[in-house]
Formats: sequence, structure tokens, C-alpha cells
Amino acid sequence: MFKVNANYLKLPGSYLFSNIAKKVAAYQDANPDKEIIKLGIGDVTLPLAPKIIDSLHDAVDEMSRAETFRGYAPDLGYEFLRNAIADGDYKSRGCDIQPDEIFISDGAKCDSGNIQEIFSVDNRIAVCDPVYPVYVDTNVMAGRTGEYDAASGTWSKVIYMPCTAENNFVPEFPKENPDIIYLCIPNNPTGTTITKAQLQDWVDYANRIGAVIIYDAAYEAYISEEDVPHTIFECEGARTCAIELRSFSKNAGFTGTRLGFTVIPKELKAGDVSLHALWARRHGTKYNGAPYIIQKAGLACYTPEGKAQLQEQVAYYMKNAKTIKEGLSQAGFTVFGGVNAPYIWLKTPDKMTSWDFFDYLLETVNIVGTPGSGFGPSGEGYFRLTAFGSYENTLRAMERIRSL
Ligand code: MLT
Repeated sequence: MFKVNANYLKLPGSYLFSNIAKKVAAYQDANPDKEIIKLGIGDVTLPLAPKIIDSLHDAVDEMSRAETFRGYAPDLGYEFLRNAIADGDYKSRGCDIQPDEIFISDGAKCDSGNIQEIFSVDNRIAVCDPVYPVYVDTNVMAGRTGEYDAASGTWSKVIYMPCTAENNFVPEFPKENPDIIYLCIPNNPTGTTITKAQLQDWVDYANRIGAVIIYDAAYEAYISEEDVPHTIFECEGARTCAIELRSFSKNAGFTGTRLGFTVIPKELKAGDVSLHALWARRHGTKYNGAPYIIQKAGLACYTPEGKAQLQEQVAYYMKNAKTIKEGLSQAGFTVFGGVNAPYIWLKTPDKMTSWDFFDYLLETVNIVGTPGSGFGPSGEGYFRLTAFGSYENTLRAMERIRSL
């Protein structure tokens, strides 16, 4: 008789955003006349920029002609895109990343979930708390997290690094030494960041204890302040301890189109084993590459016209972030984030639990957000709103909240 991977049975409930979608759908079914404003999942709402659409059209035409048709993509991704990334995201910031250290993929969610496969199941992971749930859930599936304690909402073998208002949302080095450290900067869900000097401390720490940092920089396009690192490779020594995950979802609206990449420097080694070689082996075996037309669309993001159009989109969402931040502050809420990230993290009023506040907002003003506790125990008493809605809906949401 076959057996299932019993680690999956340890996962509590369903994936956070699926759970919320079900709750919202049930409310809408029961209240068909209510107009719900969704500021929950961080999904973009602006259409793809014109330069990207042109590029997609051209690439589709290429696929219609025998001379320009493309089949399987190269293992690491097309060179034209890897060159553009190496120049546009790294060389331009003085970082030494070569095109053959970049692996094109269909998004940072998949990469952040898959990357743990190249590490031993005995490795201890450390995560910020609250945290993007994919990091923890995929380690649960792999059998790396021990047992779940429903009362505390924690896993016995996971090292949690609380990030709350009390420590200004800056993770502190844990008491026990981890092997794998997940950092997401600018942070999802809190919308906060750390400075370059603080990130340098993490890089030094990881090199000192022999840990690897899995650095998720999906929100780097939203950085507005000088002192915030755009990539971990701005830090000295990162080439021997860091893997960086990047996405085209949030800066270029590819949430439905799917494109991302992972950077693994060739110096990053466990003993004499190269992590680059392991990931290349995995990529070649399990993955057939992001579609040619999508990689061509990705290339458009690095053209002068594409860059200008994307900057406008980011500015649009950041205007929403400002509107939410100011609207909530005026309504008396304590608010964080929203300056270098498209997320606003607020304290729930009157010590309400995160889920109670979720129900309250949904039922009284028909607004959907994300309960902080869904991201980890230290998220309890907090709530996340996304700036990725339309400006009109964002304004209306703030009016509704002010009326509470
Ligand atoms: C979020 O809302 O946290 C993100 O949209 C989820 C994701 O990017 O997968």
C-alpha cells in the first residue's frame, strides 16, 4: 500500500491566502449586495506596462515563424535576460554578479519554496516572526521543522526571530545558531526594512557561524530611502553566504505572467560542495524554464522605456501606501511600513485579535486585509493592508475606515 508524505499531514489548516479567499467568498455569497474592497493578498491591479505588452506581442509573432520559433529554454534561462539582470540589477549597483550565477524561474514563490531541497533535512532554519508563510510551510513539507504546537503557533525545530514594534521590526541574532536564515527585505508582511549596516551585520554573522542566508528581495523596487539595501550583494562577504531571490511580480506586475530569478554566487559552498552546482542540477532536472515570450517580456523591463513605465507603476502603488498610512493614522491607528514597501502593518484596536479584526472589517465596512497572526505568532494583534489596489478603491477604503 502506498504511503503519503506524512509531513504534509502536519500542516495546520490551508495556505493563508487560500483560507482568506474562502472566508471572503462565503461572506460575499451570504451578502451578494455588499461591495467588498480587497486589500488582502499582495496582488497587483495595474495592467502590464505598454513596453511589456509590445514585447509579448513581438515574442508571440516570433513563435509563429519557423526561423524564430523557440522550444525548450536553456537550463539557466535565456542569456539576453540574464545579461540584462546582471547589468541592470547588480553591476549598476557595484555588485559583482555574473550572468551565469542567475537562474531564471517562474517566480520567487516557487524558488523560495524549492530552494530548501538542496539542504540537509537536519539543518535548522531561522525565520523572522511574522514571516511569509511559504518559507515555513515548505520546510514542514520537507520534514525539517519538528512538531507543531497549536497553542503557541510554533514548530519545535524552527528558530523564530520576533520582529515587532518593540524591536523596531529588526530581527536579532538568535540564541541558537541556525544553518539557514530566511530574510525578506523590504519585509513582507510588516512593510518595514533594515539598513545596509544592519544587513552587513547579518552577512558577517552568517559567515562567522557558517550559515546561509536566503534573501528574498521581491520588494526592492519599492525602496525610497537611501540607506536601505537593494540587494544583499551590496554587503561585503555576501558571495560566501547568500542566495538572493527576486521577482518580476511586484515591480512589473507579473503575478499572473510569472517570472523571477535566483542568484547563487559560485563561491557559496558547503565544505567543497558548490550550492550553485546543486541548484543547477535541480533546475536542469525538474524545470523546463520560464516561457520564451515571458522572458522576452522580462527583458522589456530593463529597457529605458520599460524602466520609466515601471517606475510610474511603483509610484502609483506607493501613493496608495501613503494614502493608507495617512488615512489610518488620522483614524487613530498605530501604523508601520508603507515607506519602502507596498504593505502597511497596523496595530489592531482595543487589543482585538488579528482574526477578530479581520471579521470586524469585513462585516462592518466590507474591507479585506490579512490577519497578522496568519504570518506567525508575533503577528498577533497586527493586521496587514496592501497598497496594490486601485487608487479609487484605496481612497474609498480609507473613507470607510474613518467612518468606523
Ligand atoms: C502576499 O500577499 O504576501 C503575497 O502576494 C504572496 C505572494 O507573493 O506569493
